[in-house]
Amino acid sequence: MGWFIQFIESSIGKKVVMATTGFFLIIYLIIHLAGNLLLYAADGGETFNKYGEILRGLPVIKLIEIVLALAFLFHIINGVRLWWLNKKAKPLNYAKNNQSRESDIFSRTMIHSGVIVFIFLVIHLRSFFIPAAFTGHPGKTMFDLVIEAFSDPVYSGFYVLAMILLGFHLNHGFQSAFQTFGWNHTKYFPIVKFLGTLYAIIMAVGFGSMPIYFLFFYGGS
Ligand code: HEM
Repeated sequence: MGWFIQFIESSIGKKVVMATTGFFLIIYLIIHLAGNLLLYAADGGETFNKYGEILRGLPVIKLIEIVLALAFLFHIINGVRLWWLNKKAKPLNYAKNNQSRESDIFSRTMIHSGVIVFIFLVIHLRSFFIPAAFTGHPGKTMFDLVIEAFSDPVYSGFYVLAMILLGFHLNHGFQSAFQTFGWNHTKYFPIVKFLGTLYAIIMAVGFGSMPIYFLFFYGGS
């Protein structure tokens, strides 16, 4: 156990923790988006509510939630620590003069996009996860909760902004995780970069379209 703690405390260990938790979260987002797309079934939320009930009924869901919470926790704490260590290690002028040559806007803003996604996460859990898993939502279905939340333009506006920044985070995070694991062969890395950008756009547009749809276009019951 001692060697393990020593490893995750080393600088390469911290990067490996970021990449492993990041990959896990990347996969989770695909599954989450696929489930949420049921919101678009034109049946007044029937399919979406049924899906939610089935999910809640699965005994394994509690375990998945715990692993997910730990992945987020490690990713966030480690991300902030890496950012802080980097900041301390680089004198301001050196960092400024070298920024444009060695990094792009997506990599330089990982901490900023991450913090906005974190704030989003807290609001998101409060709106949907806590009623679904703990407090219940008497007299309302999950679909009702979604419509209610997205009928608020401020809530929806922040949601869309957070999804754009999540896209920024994923655009760099995807390729960075491959790089951390050493999967950065010059021949194939452009493909990894392309897939990362494609993935980031699908996630940002997929999740971000939902508040826009419910705010402006949804008229059903
Ligand atoms: C769904 C949510 C998220 C996903 C899918 C995700 C994914 C990723 C991935 C794949 C990486 C690249 C890891 C590597 O360099 O090997 C990364 C890096 C990073 N993430 Fe996240 N992330 C998420 C949320 C967050 C949050 C909430 C924070 C909060 C602060 C955050 C902070 C960071 C930081 C600072 C880095 C850069 C670390 C470095 O210096 O290499 N992320 N993320």
